[in-house]
Amino acid sequence: MGTAPGLGWPGLPGSPGRLHSGRSDSGSPGLGWPGGVHASGARRAGPPPAADDTQSSGAAPTPPGKGEGTVVMSGPPVEVSSDTPIARAARAAVVARSGGQAWPRPSSCRIITIANQKGGVGKTTTAVNLAACLAMNGARVLVVDLDPQGNASTAFDVDHHSGMSSIYDVLVDGQPLAGVVRQVGGFRQLYCAPATIDLAGAEIELVPLVARESRLARAVADYDVSNLDYILIDCPPSLGLLTVNALVAAPEVLIPIQCEYYALEGLEQLLRTVELVRSHLNLGLLISTILLTMYDGRTRLASQVADEVRGHFGELVLNSVIPRSVRLSEAPSYGQSVMTYDPGSSGALAYLEAAREMAARNTRTAGR
Ligand SMILES: Nc1ncnc2c1ncn2[C@@H]1O[C@H](COP(=O)(O)OP(=O)(O)OP(=O)(O)O)[C@@H](O)[C@H]1O
Ligand SMILES: [Mg+2]
Repeated sequence: MGTAPGLGWPGLPGSPGRLHSGRSDSGSPGLGWPGGVHASGARRAGPPPAADDTQSSGAAPTPPGKGEGTVVMSGPPVEVSSDTPIARAARAAVVARSGGQAWPRPSSCRIITIANQKGGVGKTTTAVNLAACLAMNGARVLVVDLDPQGNASTAFDVDHHSGMSSIYDVLVDGQPLAGVVRQVGGFRQLYCAPATIDLAGAEIELVPLVARESRLARAVADYDVSNLDYILIDCPPSLGLLTVNALVAAPEVLIPIQCEYYALEGLEQLLRTVELVRSHLNLGLLISTILLTMYDGRTRLASQVADEVRGHFGELVLNSVIPRSVRLSEAPSYGQSVMTYDPGSSGALAYLEAAREMAARNTRTAGR
């Protein structure tokens, strides 16, 4: 692995610092505190989003075909509800960027694990926003939240309080996946299997169970995926049994890499884990996609990291780079993806490009 000193490649001294906790230390509603998230359907306090204050779903799913204010572009429908000049401009930007045509759909369901044991690199943000982009452009998408933090469930405003049916029951009790999948409000074809804090115990509870590494794979195999185009699995920041279950369940891995100092530290361990799973548990596993996240164009460091990653992983790295964007970090506190919170923001447009690249790569991935 070609290394540049100071970029945190494996073997270099120093420990990674977590840049973002993602958790608020304020008790304000709308900042991800329990109650703000679970008050089913209740509007959050706090400022409305600037461009497109659309659906706050609550627990009740929007019936297919009855999404409020659904706008049909040339191609698939995009759900929006506000009609301000800024919202219209944002929608126009999204339509222009999406090329105005339906994206190619995979011939069979693509299952993609989004993994990086480093915390706060944008796994959840990537899972949520790629899923929203794909769903807005005609794909049928399920996001499996495999992180006890439940951040993806929060971002989709899907109820995930302790004790309710969740991915924990699927993994530990062998319940069918179909029993926990919920529709994401405001989207016709976007679904989420939520994670609750109960999942925190699963790493230990799974240890004595039969086929502990392949319980998610079995659940997915028993699930009718004929009505889905993508399953995205959001992993926790570890390489424990939860992440291993995700790697066994999916043929593809997407690794988000933060364009920051030490971003590459630990990557070797992740690659080794992927290789171990591939050789022992999931022969078809491949790293299909690398996504550069939190790119700050003002710093030389960001472009150095990007160059290093491209030099090493070549065409696996998406051309689209996700910039640092305040809108991306604000959206989850409103129970939304950035695609509905502020579809014209730089973060939304970057994820749209990334999702389009991924959709276009279907055939190449399938051919490998
Ligand atoms: N491109 C971005 N610009 C600005 N903030 C971002 C961006 N991507 C993610 N964030 C914010 O950074 C924090 C970490 O992102 P995220 O939760 O997606 O990372 P993660 O890898 O899933 O974290 P964890 O390892 O804890 O699961 C969150 O607060 C998120 O809103
Ligand atoms: Mg996460």
